[in-house]
Amino acid sequence: MTKQGLYESQKLGLWYMVAGLILFGAQNLFGLLIAYQYINPDFLFGLLDFNIGRILHINAMVVWLLLGFIGAIYWFLPIETGRETVGIKLGKLAFFVLVAAVTVVVLVYLFIQIGPGNQISLWFINEGREYIEAPRWADIGIVVVVLIFLYNVIATVIASKRLTGIMGVLIVDLVALAGLYLAGMFYTVNISVDQYFWWWVIHLWVEATWEVLIGCIMALSLMYVLKTPRKIVEGWLYLEVFLVFGTGILGLGHHYFWIGTPEYWLGIGGFFSALEPLPLVAMIIHAIYDAGAHKLRTVNRPALFWIFAQAFGNFFGAGVWGFMQTLPQINMYSHGTQLAASHGHMAFFGAYVATNIAVAYIMVQKLRDPEEKYVFDSKLWKWAYVLMIIGIVGMVGALMVAGFAQTEIERAVGGSGWQAYIDAQLHPWMAEAMWWRLGFGFIFFIGYILLIIDLLTIGKNKEELEVLPEAEVSHA
Ligand code: HEM
Ligand code: HEM
Ligand SMILES: [Fe+2]
Repeated sequence: MTKQGLYESQKLGLWYMVAGLILFGAQNLFGLLIAYQYINPDFLFGLLDFNIGRILHINAMVVWLLLGFIGAIYWFLPIETGRETVGIKLGKLAFFVLVAAVTVVVLVYLFIQIGPGNQISLWFINEGREYIEAPRWADIGIVVVVLIFLYNVIATVIASKRLTGIMGVLIVDLVALAGLYLAGMFYTVNISVDQYFWWWVIHLWVEATWEVLIGCIMALSLMYVLKTPRKIVEGWLYLEVFLVFGTGILGLGHHYFWIGTPEYWLGIGGFFSALEPLPLVAMIIHAIYDAGAHKLRTVNRPALFWIFAQAFGNFFGAGVWGFMQTLPQINMYSHGTQLAASHGHMAFFGAYVATNIAVAYIMVQKLRDPEEKYVFDSKLWKWAYVLMIIGIVGMVGALMVAGFAQTEIERAVGGSGWQAYIDAQLHPWMAEAMWWRLGFGFIFFIGYILLIIDLLTIGKNKEELEVLPEAEVSHA
């Protein structure tokens, strides 16, 4: 235990979360840069091209979300198992290795922006697979870091001789999550085969293993912020996991419509992916049910509200926006338009960014109020919350309008020809939407800055805080 009454594991979890939140800032800055380049393609041309800024934007996203998830697990692990994490020194080493590797990879992206597609590029510069562009040496490093994390979780659970339902689900899920990453490391000259396995990582991560992982993190968070009984959260978790895997694994087929895979994927992908919103509905009902049962009485208001944002954001962003374009009859026209980016922003924000922010507030509460005497609250978190939500919804709305224009003008009417592409790009619904996206992007960024200021200050002034009624102090 450290001075503040934290387990070493929790301190390590905090490091991961802090590193993640800093990268989140970088993600947003690169997002603003490439959003501006959409409008003015000459900006920084030759110095920092769109394709590199885009890689940095989405890789920063993947890495920071994973850092936050790992941080969350290191935070909750000692609470679940009742003991310090095994292999904490190894965990710290892995943290520094990861941060160093990310820094080197980013510097190489920035310094070597153009080059041949040969083995040297593949091993040392850029593997060329969207979202997981990291070169192979870094891939291997990432696998080692994840294996250390996995070992720490499993060894801690074994040493504690206590396997809760949540921990059981978590371990199975982490094995799948780490294993799938390997599918993104093969190189084949056949682009269809390459894409086939690449989707195993991308789709099966964000629509299967990550969803289950945040199901576990949400279960742990709900037990903390609302004191929901374990029996209830575990019951819901099993149902959600069953539905996520039952629909999400074959739902993979919605990426196999047009990449040269057999035609039966049209039916399989269309059917199973159309069912994917089901678990997300279950998650909403779960959150509302728990909050209602506790009459919204919580120890941590910002965390509770971010949990709500998560439940609804996940449902709308992934469930509704994904569903909109998942049937092959529709996807034939909308595939690869701004509609995909609209869905991507809402889903990643709703499902995963909101999760990490909720956990960050839970962590900060323990730092500022170790004895849990107060209801955690501030004025500033509400501003950050509202601005970030307006920002993301605005960007998503703008991209949706642009995506509709593209689907209609370029595909449905114009028949996908080159001139039809140009017509759609020049149409005001498309061109103006790019300004709206940039404007709402700024609003989002201001929200992010306020969030960081709030995380650094919330709970410092105890006079502003409501004292928790004695009956609800957990003394955990
Ligand atoms: C949290 C969960 C989810 C996340 C983070 C997510 C994210 C994304 C992203 C980033 C893309 C673009 C991929 C690319 O770069 O090519 C995408 C594509 C797609 N997603 Fe999701 N998604 C999620 C869940 C869902 C669900 C539940 C559905 C269906 C009900 C769905 C349907 C689709 C479809 C059909 C595409 C392909 C769009 C196209 O053809 O252009 N997604 N998703
Ligand atoms: C500061 C606000 C942001 C701005 C201005 C912004 C802007 C952009 C731009 C211009 C692209 C490239 C789109 C393209 O290639 O056509 C992009 C891609 C992407 N961004 Fe953002 N972004 C922001 C925040 C975020 C956040 C918070 C997330 C989620 C956590 C996110 C997730 C993504 C994803 C998944 C893609 C790839 C989408 C796809 O290929 O379908 N962005 N963003
Ligand atoms: Fe998918």
